[in-house]
Amino acid sequence: MRLLIIGASGVLGSRLYNDVIKRKWNVLGTYFSQECEGLFYLDLKDRKTVDKIFNFFKPEVVVCAGGITDVDLCEKRPRLAREVNVSGTLHLVRKIKEYDAKFVFLSTDYVFDGKNGPYSEETSPCPINIYGKTKLEGEAIVRDSLDDFLIVRTAQLYGVDHRNRNFAVEIIRNMQNNKKVYAADDFYCTPTYVGTLSEAIVKLIKSDKRGIFNVAGSDFLHRYAYISLISDIFSLDKSLIQKLKLKDLHLKAARPRKAGLKIDKLVKEIKIKPLNCKDGLKLLRKEMS
Ligand SMILES: NC(=O)c1ccc[n+]([C@@H]2O[C@H](COP(=O)([O-])OP(=O)(O)OC[C@H]3O[C@@H](n4cnc5c(N)ncnc54)[C@H](OP(=O)(O)O)[C@@H]3O)[C@@H](O)[C@H]2O)c1
Repeated sequence: MRLLIIGASGVLGSRLYNDVIKRKWNVLGTYFSQECEGLFYLDLKDRKTVDKIFNFFKPEVVVCAGGITDVDLCEKRPRLAREVNVSGTLHLVRKIKEYDAKFVFLSTDYVFDGKNGPYSEETSPCPINIYGKTKLEGEAIVRDSLDDFLIVRTAQLYGVDHRNRNFAVEIIRNMQNNKKVYAADDFYCTPTYVGTLSEAIVKLIKSDKRGIFNVAGSDFLHRYAYISLISDIFSLDKSLIQKLKLKDLHLKAARPRKAGLKIDKLVKEIKIKPLNCKDGLKLLRKEMS
């Protein structure tokens, strides 16, 4: 099976790329701005680069882990967010149809308003920021155009990230450098270990599942509890954590306060073992040491 991973230089994409190489899958991965050995350049905004990769590799399965994932950047540059996350999805879908491939589209719990999460796959989305809106538009394009698709929604990913773009890694690095970190105790999530997400994607592809699947960790906790747990596992100085409310962070984009995802469907259908935050962070500690 020929697997194409868009965004193989990102947190999820790089983990999935390495996991499937170990399984000896035939894989091609792409990067955008961070050139990585073995990866090919692709810009989702540029149809020609998408066409070139598809015509060269002729993928049978395509995972899109690429796009603009910075929630505040999406708010600042909505046109760019739409060009990459929405038009980019259209470019992919057009070629996926031509090659009759399966599409695995990565989405987010930010498609919800966060009034009463965690959410199941059945809840109707209602995004409150540009990032969530572009991801939901991407989902709609996939659902309306293809039969063989997976929409994998995930939440608050943590994993090895050499560029410190990942929330947990950023917190760890800041605290290790004695910098204060700010933690809202009214902002909830279901942190997800990237290894679990990668494993779930492999299992969903292998069992030829279709439709929407949530993939997340088993704990639903607010940021203050999450950061406190990070500081316990990584033996960091807790006095650096400043507790506050979400509104005090003055973030550019509105955040769904109680988002997060329920994973009952995933556990039932692909028999994956849900990972709690403590065990996931211990795995991260091992990988970072
Ligand atoms: N991180 C989270 O907490 C989280 C939560 C919910 C859902 N998700 C979803 O999960 C997926 C993976 O997230 P992640 O955290 O692994 O992402 P990430 O680390 O931010 O990586 C994003 C990837 O997209 C690539 N990219 C950026 N602009 C591009 C463009 N114009 N054309 C092609 N590729 C482009 C990047 O390439 P370069 O680095 O080479 O520029 C990188 O490989 C995304 O769909 C995201 O929406 C993430």
